[in-house]
Amino acid sequence: MRVVVLENADSVAQFAADFFVQQVKRKPNSVLGLATGSTPLGTYRKLIEAYQAGRVSFKDVTTFNLDEYYGLEPTHEQSYRRFMRESLFDHIDVEPSRTHVPLGTANNVEAETEAYEAAIVAAGGIDVQLLGIGTDGHIAFNEPGSSFASRTRLKTLTRRTRQDNARFFGSLDLVPKLALTMGIGSILEARQLLLLACGEGKAEAIAKSVEGPVSAICPGSALQLHRRAIVVLDKGAAKGLSQLEYYADCEMNLNELTKV
Ligand code: GLP
Repeated sequence: MRVVVLENADSVAQFAADFFVQQVKRKPNSVLGLATGSTPLGTYRKLIEAYQAGRVSFKDVTTFNLDEYYGLEPTHEQSYRRFMRESLFDHIDVEPSRTHVPLGTANNVEAETEAYEAAIVAAGGIDVQLLGIGTDGHIAFNEPGSSFASRTRLKTLTRRTRQDNARFFGSLDLVPKLALTMGIGSILEARQLLLLACGEGKAEAIAKSVEGPVSAICPGSALQLHRRAIVVLDKGAAKGLSQLEYYADCEMNLNELTKV
């Protein structure tokens, strides 16, 4: 696992945006795995800027989002489909029919989740999957205890996750109790994982994910099983890590090597 510790949230967003721009330049028809939450917002703003400045085009890109609240219409203020439209899709040249978010109002959840997995396969698999992390270590909506073999499915949200996300809904009662989410097994199949975390509130989840035992009780620890995972942190989120000096040495050497 590559651990990159940067000065602040803005540098984390810049790192992720540059990573995506380079990916799309190298492979214009890339399949990008996208995430929601407040953490990726800065990255999306920088991607919009890059598009507006003519530095990148997303016209041949396909996207798959990690998850969606169960029961919310795609137009609902707090649905992840709407979040993605407002924070990214409406401001770049991605083809709307190639943007995928699980349908939270699907009548047949099993058919919806199976079709979602099949669509990822049909698109050729995800090239880069962006991830955030919950304070309880969840990735996407895979809560503690989620199997590392799990696929896209309906998942019950923990009270902690619902409380964390209540700020967007105004009240805890309005936060859905269930969500459709890609599984950890599905996420691990992406060719590259890019997990972002900012702020001290994420320090414990990051320490457990990066340096703790690999365990279903901390879904983020599944990243240790992936051969190309990069964890990008600001100083606050890195606070609980014991090997900071080593991670910095690795980055320094990598920078030296790429200069050659
Ligand atoms: C939600 C999303 C996750 C996200 C997490 C953290 O639960 N389903 O994908 O990583 O929130 O959100 P934030 O970035 O707002 O802390």
